[in-house]
Amino acid sequence: MEATRRGFVKATAGGVAALAALNALRVESASADEAAKRVGGNDLFSGKANARQLTDDLWWVGASDKRIALFENVYPLSQGVAYNSYILLDEKTVLFDTVDRSVWGQYFENVYAVLDGRDLDYLVVNHMEPDHASAISQVLTNFPNATVVTTAMSAALIKQFFEIDISDRALIVAEGDTLTTGAHTLAFVEAPMVHWPEVMVTFDATTGVLFCADAFGSFNALDGNIFADQVNFQETWLDEARRYFCNIVGKYGPQVQDVLKKAATLDITMLCSTHGPMWRQDLGWIIDKYDKWSRYIPEDNAVAIFYGSIYGGTENAANILASQISQAGVDNVKVYDVSKTHVSYLIAEAFRCSHLVFASVTYNMGIFTPMKNFLNDLVVHNMQNRCVSFVENGSWSPASGQLMQDIVATMPNMFQVGDLVTLRSTTSTENVEALRALAGAIAASVLGDKSLNTAIAANSNNAQPLAGTVEAAEKVEIAEGAATTKWKCKICGYEVEVEGDALPEDFKCPICGQGPDMFEKIEG
Ligand code: FEO
Repeated sequence: MEATRRGFVKATAGGVAALAALNALRVESASADEAAKRVGGNDLFSGKANARQLTDDLWWVGASDKRIALFENVYPLSQGVAYNSYILLDEKTVLFDTVDRSVWGQYFENVYAVLDGRDLDYLVVNHMEPDHASAISQVLTNFPNATVVTTAMSAALIKQFFEIDISDRALIVAEGDTLTTGAHTLAFVEAPMVHWPEVMVTFDATTGVLFCADAFGSFNALDGNIFADQVNFQETWLDEARRYFCNIVGKYGPQVQDVLKKAATLDITMLCSTHGPMWRQDLGWIIDKYDKWSRYIPEDNAVAIFYGSIYGGTENAANILASQISQAGVDNVKVYDVSKTHVSYLIAEAFRCSHLVFASVTYNMGIFTPMKNFLNDLVVHNMQNRCVSFVENGSWSPASGQLMQDIVATMPNMFQVGDLVTLRSTTSTENVEALRALAGAIAASVLGDKSLNTAIAANSNNAQPLAGTVEAAEKVEIAEGAATTKWKCKICGYEVEVEGDALPEDFKCPICGQGPDMFEKIEG
């Protein structure tokens, strides 16, 4: 683009050089028109390209969508989302992932501007979910010589989603495979369930750049600054990065841990996710966040009170409880109305805080519907390792307390702090004392030990294992001394050890739901 502008300036200066420059400009304009036509058959994409240079030969060619209301048609986005894609200009040209259809006008402008007349040799598909893959068909149409580099499962899903058979132009790769593109060597690392089973990440062994698919991504559009070190990430991005992680890949903590272990063996200089800013500094800071989130370790020694209230009685109790906890010396307390706050924010707060309070009215002899949905969503997202407390309300037959405890008890390593407080319609002289006692127990637990790991440990600071709570690991019963075999899910990588030489016929992978026929034996 710069060359074009310089050519125009020279052209206006007159003379033979000017004519030559004008001709050059016409040629470039013609190719730009041609490019625009190949994108959509019209001049829609006649704005200025918005690509950004990351290293000597690596460019960001993504785009942001601020019009989108719901990510995956479920998660509210107040500040949009970025779809990141990258081009490496080596002896061969390589495009890493594509974008959502909503932004492909800007995207193809960026791609053509960076390629600057060169053909595309490789399209690396790390993750084929449509927010990154819906432009694949157009890329393959526009660049008929490009080879798709991806996993076998991704190729199958591309066919399934888009009815594109890439078998005659695909390079199927697996863990440990490499591709040399000139000066760069790309190494492919499988990352199943981060966030879909077909996912891989690509490590540029020459520069240390890790194209990490959804990992280290975030909600929010990019506002000009594309690097995390250009923004106050902790103040302006962290909440949305956490909400993205917990809701999108929070269920798959063990799989994220697997990738973090692989990443620890690589000399990474830059994290290039498919969403959010790129990381070129303080990589350890965001990796530490991912480590905590994926191990379900609380990020903050803090209290989140979640209440479900109809006429305000339970809400009042939640506010009194928060006030008393605060007066007892705990600064980090938040109160959420589960009817008003989207559940994705509640999930993220549950991942952040060490102490969770669930306060619900009794509704049709059950848990208030928004609270029940929230608790069930916590189960789905693998919530574990927290101190929990309960407040129930019921005007004639309070029942929500035990029912909430029953759901929370299905989450591993949950410890109850204080006694269940029962309200009858609203806060009374009698139960305000019970609330005060609960606040004291919670504050003592939060303040008694600043170590998050010990704060959630059994018998620490008033916390007792919640009756019925399960242990962290999924277990298949094995008799003592019995011979065992290990099996690995071919879809998501989940590993399990069982007694004997076969998985039980009714065994289902707890991560992706596959049966025994999709497991392979781990030898040795
Ligand atoms: Fe951003 Fe899992 O797609």
